[in-house]
Amino acid sequence: MNFYNKDNPKSLQQMFGSIAQQYDKTNAILSFQMHKLWNKKLIRAAIEKQLPSTYLDLCCGTGEIAFKYLKRRSLPCKAYLLDFCPEMLYCAKERAKHLNLQPHTLTYLQADAQKIPLAEESIESVTLAYGIRNIPHPQQCFNEIYRVLNTGGTVGILELTQPTQPLIRAGHKLYLKTILPIMGQLVTSNRKAYEYLCNSIRSFISPQELESMLKIAGFKQASVITLMGGIATILVAKKGN
Ligand SMILES: C[S@@+](CC[C@H](N)C(=O)[O-])C[C@H]1O[C@@H](n2cnc3c(N)ncnc32)[C@H](O)[C@@H]1O
Repeated sequence: MNFYNKDNPKSLQQMFGSIAQQYDKTNAILSFQMHKLWNKKLIRAAIEKQLPSTYLDLCCGTGEIAFKYLKRRSLPCKAYLLDFCPEMLYCAKERAKHLNLQPHTLTYLQADAQKIPLAEESIESVTLAYGIRNIPHPQQCFNEIYRVLNTGGTVGILELTQPTQPLIRAGHKLYLKTILPIMGQLVTSNRKAYEYLCNSIRSFISPQELESMLKIAGFKQASVITLMGGIATILVAKKGN
């Protein structure tokens, strides 16, 4: 078994804590900046159309998604940033200061995404980027998202997934097994963390299974956007009447 394991939340908290300071830099190197494009697509598909006045970013990390959106937005918006890792939240707070974002519009929640400490029907848009594959019970998290969203509210989920086309899948597997852990070690000196991240992609359920879970949570339908042959996937779902 890997040193880090999502069924042991403390080990994951510790792992994310150990990479928090270098997380943004490492992400940019390891994804060849592709994550910026994918993040932009998530924001366009899930939040920008909605223009919410209340917004929740789950598994927010250093605030990459939330801050990108809030910087582009001119209307006031109350934003909640939730993560279970205090070091990630610390980095997010520091980043918000550098970006000159209005502190009174931001609320940081150190909590489990499977138990969101917000009232039902209190949020208009939720995003969850690169987080769901770390969560032991994704269904519980989707049930919680459904609970806190108000009617007409939207959730956008972005996750690294496995391509289905055999040739791309083989190259992707090789990249995850060999290149990514070595590069992760070079940039962060924490090979174990990047081995965990690679395994978590390889062992994660398919976008179709995630879509079924969203429906079980109560979402009537979800749209699935496949990125770069399936290396990443966005799911967008709306809470109906
Ligand atoms: C790969 S990072 C993604 C961060 C950010 N969304 C981004 O786009 O850069 C995953 C984040 O999820 C958080 N996380 C993992 N499991 C969690 C859980 N059960 N509840 C809350 N946060 C969790 C980690 O602490 C980490 O900050």
